[in-house]
Amino acid sequence: MTDPQIVLTERVQQALARAFGPEHADADPLIRPSQFADFQANVAMSLAKRLRRSPREVAEAITAELSDFPGTIEVSGPGFLNITLGNAWIEAEAQQMLADPRLGVGTITPSQTVVIDYSAPNAAKEMHVGHLRTTIVGDSLARLHEHLGNTVIRQNHLGDWGTPFGMLIEHLLDIGEQAAVEQLEAGQGTEFYQAARAKFDGDEAFKTRARARVSTLQSGDPDTLRLWHVFMDATVRFFNKVYDLLGVTLTDADIAGESMYNPMLQKTCDDLESSGTAVISEGALCVFPPGFTGSDDKPLPLIIRKSDGGYGYATTDMAAIRYRVNDLKTDRILYVVGNEQALHFQMVFAAAKQAGWLPETTSAEHVRIGMMLGKDGRRFKTRSGESVKLMDLLQEAVDRAAKLIEDRGYDEATQREIAHAVGMAAVKYADLSVSHDSEYVFDLDRMVATTGNTGPYMQYATARIRSIFRRAGISPADATASIVLAAPAERALGLHLLGFGELVAQVTADSEPHRLCAFLFQTASLLSTFYEECPVIKEGVDPETRDHRLALCALTLRVLETGLDLLGVPVPERM
Ligand code: ARG
Repeated sequence: MTDPQIVLTERVQQALARAFGPEHADADPLIRPSQFADFQANVAMSLAKRLRRSPREVAEAITAELSDFPGTIEVSGPGFLNITLGNAWIEAEAQQMLADPRLGVGTITPSQTVVIDYSAPNAAKEMHVGHLRTTIVGDSLARLHEHLGNTVIRQNHLGDWGTPFGMLIEHLLDIGEQAAVEQLEAGQGTEFYQAARAKFDGDEAFKTRARARVSTLQSGDPDTLRLWHVFMDATVRFFNKVYDLLGVTLTDADIAGESMYNPMLQKTCDDLESSGTAVISEGALCVFPPGFTGSDDKPLPLIIRKSDGGYGYATTDMAAIRYRVNDLKTDRILYVVGNEQALHFQMVFAAAKQAGWLPETTSAEHVRIGMMLGKDGRRFKTRSGESVKLMDLLQEAVDRAAKLIEDRGYDEATQREIAHAVGMAAVKYADLSVSHDSEYVFDLDRMVATTGNTGPYMQYATARIRSIFRRAGISPADATASIVLAAPAERALGLHLLGFGELVAQVTADSEPHRLCAFLFQTASLLSTFYEECPVIKEGVDPETRDHRLALCALTLRVLETGLDLLGVPVPERM
């Protein structure tokens, strides 16, 4: 355990127990980073009242029990403990981290099975920017859990079923399979949908055909199912293009769309009804989970089967939660889905608990994703009011990145590779660096900037270290000299890096990748101060100092690269 804050917490707790009795062994010593020392502990203030002693006296009694502490402790003001760690301790811990392939990141024991429901675009419409964020955040969570040794089951809950498929299939027949496939593969799902919709609204004969097609689809007619597959396969091929471009880890094997639950829906309804969890209300089968009321104070229904007998979004989610608990035997389910579905998930979780389908031992969590806004502060749209095409947007990010590096003299292939990595990093990091539930403004100018808390800035930090190693003529893996933290900038960087393992664990537990971004940004900032104050390969730097500094650079590089990889942000060797 390297995280200084945790080490200190344990030490002070032991001192508390020795000074005031074992009942204080679990007290929170309230250790916080401090302006005046590395950390301060505020526990003396809160304990003083209970012990009926002055805070200063309490602080001094704690200090007396910490005589073997690897650093200095001073009592200041009314009773704060100012804690400064000894360099030797920090150096030894950093050295250990350098030798550790996992960089102090532990594994969760016993490991858990975690279902991560993310991305989930709708096939009846185009994959849009909203799904970009659920895809990127979900993918980072999947990487984090896997890194900690959990078994991750990715589930791409595609919107691939329902009444719109009647008109979509009829439209596909009208324009011909091949033309339809080409259009869908090219990412023109919205145009396809709009054309079908226009006919549905304006052409009675088409409407009749579309409705009949819904029934044949639902009855499992083989010809209709084949057409549905033609439509879906082409659509998924387009989704895969987006996933490839983004470098997300989703594959076809992770598709678990709404259609998958279709065969389970009738039993879902029957079981909810026979257990009394769901009741018929105004012709519909509904669950009324306790505590949910509408504006009129009437109990709010979760509609499981509509009055016309049709199933809906909630029916599928009830079937899915049961499947995930019973068949996938999951310990945790993360639903990485837009904020606006918060009520839906609260009601689904409550209804599943009521039905006994979601035991205490399984936690279902909605990882709320905030809306993406345009620069005007409204929902992100093109000027003509249409939703922005994802591919266009990603391409624009790559184009801007290409501009950024166009004068660096790379050959065309390298240039293209770097531009791609930088463009994707810009978009992905921007998504990840703000807390997932806050709205954020999609602003490519800011995203591709090489200063500030951006993807390109983080890439730049790693490229800078790599370039030092190239100039030094050794590989980072060979920089195994001892870490010496003599200068303040070295010390600050070394101390900061020690927190990595604990941070990754917390970020994973709390589903908060933005805190990993903040940690890496701080790393890069401390690194840049280190560059200014501590030359590594400049003339006049003695070989020993150089080797110590290269070792610190190697550790920093691995923390940055590992962290970025956990975020799914690509790291080019050069920029
Ligand atoms: N397809 C849905 C949408 O775009 C998201 C599905 C999320 N997952 C779920 N189990 N409901 O809104």
